[in-house]
Amino acid sequence: MESWFSKGLTKWYKQNKRDLPWRSETDPYKIWLSEIILQQTQVAQGTSYYLKFIAKYPKAGNLASANEDEVLKLWQGLGYYSRARNLHATAKIIKSNYAGVFPSTYEEIRALKGIGDYTASAISSFAYNLPFAVVDGNVYRLLSRLFGIDTPIDSGVGKKEFQALANELLDKKNPAEHNQAIMEFGSQFCKPNNPDCENCIFNSKCLAFKTNRVKELPIKSKKIKISNRFLNYVVIVDKNNNVLLNKRAESDIWKGLYEFYLIESKKEISIDKLFKTPEFNKIATSKFKLLHSSKNYKHILSHQHLYAKFYVIKAASIISNTLTTSKINNLNNFAFSRLTEKFLNDCDLKEIV
Ligand code: ADE
Repeated sequence: MESWFSKGLTKWYKQNKRDLPWRSETDPYKIWLSEIILQQTQVAQGTSYYLKFIAKYPKAGNLASANEDEVLKLWQGLGYYSRARNLHATAKIIKSNYAGVFPSTYEEIRALKGIGDYTASAISSFAYNLPFAVVDGNVYRLLSRLFGIDTPIDSGVGKKEFQALANELLDKKNPAEHNQAIMEFGSQFCKPNNPDCENCIFNSKCLAFKTNRVKELPIKSKKIKISNRFLNYVVIVDKNNNVLLNKRAESDIWKGLYEFYLIESKKEISIDKLFKTPEFNKIATSKFKLLHSSKNYKHILSHQHLYAKFYVIKAASIISNTLTTSKINNLNNFAFSRLTEKFLNDCDLKEIV
């Protein structure tokens, strides 16, 4: 039977929902794309990426056949590139193991790379109307407030408790709409800061509202430990306007992206010290000229604060054994991290060299 919760929720949803392009979709591939993009960014920015991806790769098979650089390039600006790499790898698996047709059971969907409980529930319910309840940040917030639950949402116990409650509340006859509605209500009405509780349809039932705990909930237990890193990028250009690039091989969030020659240091270092490092001497001939020192860039990731500077250097020739070079005019063809992109947007390299 439809509960008071689902009834109120879907009524609210019908009157207040935003018209978003993936909402009229039942193609699991497109829903999957939208969900992966929306894990990374807000709806306002994500929509254009979603439209670009489905225009360029209308089917999983098209994405599977693309080359990785091209996929990373289309993802550029969203950050956290391992999501794009998983997207690509998963499309290849769908092509090879499922003949290009997205699987249709929760278990098969959940087993795909880069798809966790939330995304598997979202795809199963939106595409196939299967009864799996979504629990994302919006749902944690709404349920913790409405039912006055103070179990930390980032604990194993909390995850189980909230999932069980969401399953119980799910309208099994209409999981697709119920799931869309619970997330929409959480994101648009039961907002993190200053929600309009006075006008909320659930305020007579909401325990947090009644006990004045809206600001406190949901509760998180873990404090993230932040490390600082100092990145010195050498943008070294030769007399023919070739610039040295490195394709990152490390298994981190920037794997597969290009960057200028990087010399990492434990703390901030002066330019004189940088020029004396063995790493610098590996690439520069003795004759070179510093053309530009960038401002300091601070880039904040979930567990790291990156402090970066870019030094544009002209050298008669570049010593490059294993690295790539590109003409300055061609830099647009490479996918860079957001940090490097910011520098390239701020500084007109063609003017400087
Ligand atoms: N955020 C994550 N998934 C979403 C969806 N399907 N609609 C709106 N916002 C979302």
